[in-house]
Amino acid sequence: MVAELTVYEAIRLRRDVRAEFTGARIDEAALWRILDAAHRAPSVGNSQPWDFVVVRDPRRLRAFAEHVADQRRAFHESLPPERAEVFDPIKIEGIAESGTGIVVTHDDARGGPHVLGRATVPETGVYSTVLAIQNLWLAATAEGVGVGWVSFYDPEFLTGLVGLPAGIRPVAWLCVGPVREFQTVPDLERFGWRRGRPLDAAVHQESYGAR
Ligand SMILES: Cc1cc2nc3c(=O)[nH]c(=O)nc-3n(C[C@H](O)[C@H](O)[C@H](O)COP(=O)(O)O)c2cc1C
Repeated sequence: MVAELTVYEAIRLRRDVRAEFTGARIDEAALWRILDAAHRAPSVGNSQPWDFVVVRDPRRLRAFAEHVADQRRAFHESLPPERAEVFDPIKIEGIAESGTGIVVTHDDARGGPHVLGRATVPETGVYSTVLAIQNLWLAATAEGVGVGWVSFYDPEFLTGLVGLPAGIRPVAWLCVGPVREFQTVPDLERFGWRRGRPLDAAVHQESYGAR
């Protein structure tokens, strides 16, 4: 465990992890601490529209990994040759190595028909679920636990794999497990796929486009 990180330190240290999982399983107490952090996220109308399905059955992990490999292949085939070459060495998941998957789901009906704050911006429900994911990710980082978000899946397949009832949709598969290290540079930058942009390019004064 990385003791007593400030929130800024955890934000700087956090990485999307694919290749650095040790293969050990996350300690049960640590898992509950990071789920508790996720569950403390803000949510529109206090609706808490998220749930967390913890997946450890090796057969289920393998089935998901095979499905993701198919989706990766399809994406690869959709790329022009020069992008396909850059994409080739990029690992996009650590499903088996992490040993634990957390499927974060969203229930838009949670909170009933009058969710305070969602009337004009329906996406605020999903925004809330995503905030739970970010809390989970930062808390895991502070624990020395890696998280890798996998979105190369067909939502219908994942819905079936973990038995989601009608109306509950998957928002993320998170690979969660202890790591050897956190890379200092995001994988997509290291492998030349896409660089980040500087903060001052993202900040506007008074109106969009003004610096
Ligand atoms: C909504 C979302 C979906 C993502 N899906 C994937 C994915 O399927 N596979 C993957 O390797 N990384 C995935 N990522 C991780 C991003 O590639 C990563 O966050 C980005 O490259 C920046 O790197 P960093 O998180 O290490 O700072 C996803 C991230 C987000 C926020």
